[in-house]
Amino acid sequence: MALILEISLSFLVIGILILWFRQKNKNKDFYKNIPGPPPLPIFGNILEIGSTITFIDVMLNFAKKYGGILLLHGGPIRKTLLVSDYKFLECVLSSTKILNKTEDYNFFRPWLGTGLLTSDGPKWKKHRRILTPAFHFQILEQFIDVFESGGNTLIQKLEKEVGKKSVDIYPFVTLCTLDIICETAMGTKINAQENSDSEYVRSVKDMCRIIIERSFSFLQLFDLTYPLTKNYYVEKKALKVLHQHTNSVITKRRSELKNPATKKTQDDNFGPKTKKAFLDLILDAKVDGRSLTQEEIREEVDTFMFEGHDTTASAISFAIFCLANHPEVQAKVLEEQRQLFGSNKNPSPTYADLQSMKYLEQVIKETLRLYPSVPFYGRQTNEAVEFNGSIIPEGVTITIFAYAIHRDPKYFEDPEQFNPSRFEKIDGKLPYCFIPFSAGPRNCIGQKFAMLEMKSTLSKIVRKFELMPSTPQHKLQLAAEAVLKSANGVKISLKLRD
Ligand code: HEM
Repeated sequence: MALILEISLSFLVIGILILWFRQKNKNKDFYKNIPGPPPLPIFGNILEIGSTITFIDVMLNFAKKYGGILLLHGGPIRKTLLVSDYKFLECVLSSTKILNKTEDYNFFRPWLGTGLLTSDGPKWKKHRRILTPAFHFQILEQFIDVFESGGNTLIQKLEKEVGKKSVDIYPFVTLCTLDIICETAMGTKINAQENSDSEYVRSVKDMCRIIIERSFSFLQLFDLTYPLTKNYYVEKKALKVLHQHTNSVITKRRSELKNPATKKTQDDNFGPKTKKAFLDLILDAKVDGRSLTQEEIREEVDTFMFEGHDTTASAISFAIFCLANHPEVQAKVLEEQRQLFGSNKNPSPTYADLQSMKYLEQVIKETLRLYPSVPFYGRQTNEAVEFNGSIIPEGVTITIFAYAIHRDPKYFEDPEQFNPSRFEKIDGKLPYCFIPFSAGPRNCIGQKFAMLEMKSTLSKIVRKFELMPSTPQHKLQLAAEAVLKSANGVKISLKLRD
């Protein structure tokens, strides 16, 4: 018996060693000429990365030292190209062959399954096709009311902060964007701004935190050791709450749609004759001639919930911070609002009004250039691809470093300066140097939705408040979490406009 066990164990160890050796040497010839920081045995470069707060600076320094295509070793086996080179980005992002996501997205899967963000291959392609019409302008137009009412509650909350020397606006904005995405994605209200300590809101926050903590902690990185940590149990509880919530909304909605009598009893304005939530469009959709399963629908709704609130919260908060610290830009934004709405202090902007806020759009773009909500994102080749006369083989992991190209002086004069007007000159030119929403076939499906939501919320805030720097003046401490954040908050001060 002992002998059989010994032999089995030896085979297992040999098997693992062969796999490890193969993996370690995969694409060796391709990697050998790519510059990068020298790796340590076993650890590779991970010890140099530090925490979420040091991450961006370390990566930026690597890019400055080794160039726009460099090789990083994430431990003994994993390798990734860190890319901020324009030509390479163009090749990767425009390609219809480099569409798969990397292993890093595995941490999202317990929550999002294989929704649009995390799926690959034919499933991604089919779901992208059926979800694209959900972002048609006629659909987006009916969400303007939801943006309005979420923004109005935010204003009420911020009114209580007027006159304080320092207000961290990030928590206020996150609850607002969570309210908005919940109502637009599921057609139900969670009233996060009124009830920020609800189980659902807490579970969303827990999951957003855990996803990133897992990628920075050795114990949490591996499925085998993860159950030894507290986060494993917090995650289990959060997932139960989140999945149960989405599932019950789907079930309720499905039965309402089947039974016209109950449709009329709905308590919100997502009734059959009024607007449709993303969920309704997904329930109507067909893939290969069949409706989506409960699980497929849940994955897509949860993906919208995740992708659609933290990203916009980060962008809106950083934009408010930039406006507070650049009064001349804020004055131009206000002037644009006054030209549109005259003396009406409480307008309800239409879709066309939001579209016409061109300067505000430049402000948002400039904010996203300096503070891209998603500073890094990943792709993996699943077949060989040609680049510049050489071949990128199958199985290469690519990390797109949007933050770095956004601050490259080759493309942006005085890149550290907040200067929204630069977009008058560069808009549309060199599409792969401004990539906050990614680009090409796997770009952000929600970018038009996001732009409308950001314009609606920001314009409302600027019309209502004078935004000023906090006392003492706040210095952002950027942290590369799943979404870019400021580890020490986003602090400003507020004054009511006359
Ligand atoms: C400022 C706001 C936003 C920014 C900066 C942003 C940025 C991005 C980026 C960079 C990606 C590509 C990620 C990757 O390749 O891994 C992405 C994908 C995605 N975004 Fe957004 N996003 C924003 C808002 C939204 C909103 C509001 C929604 C939904 C309502 C949304 C839904 C999605 C989805 C579903 C994907 C996956 C698309 C696919 O793989 O086909 N995003 N977003």
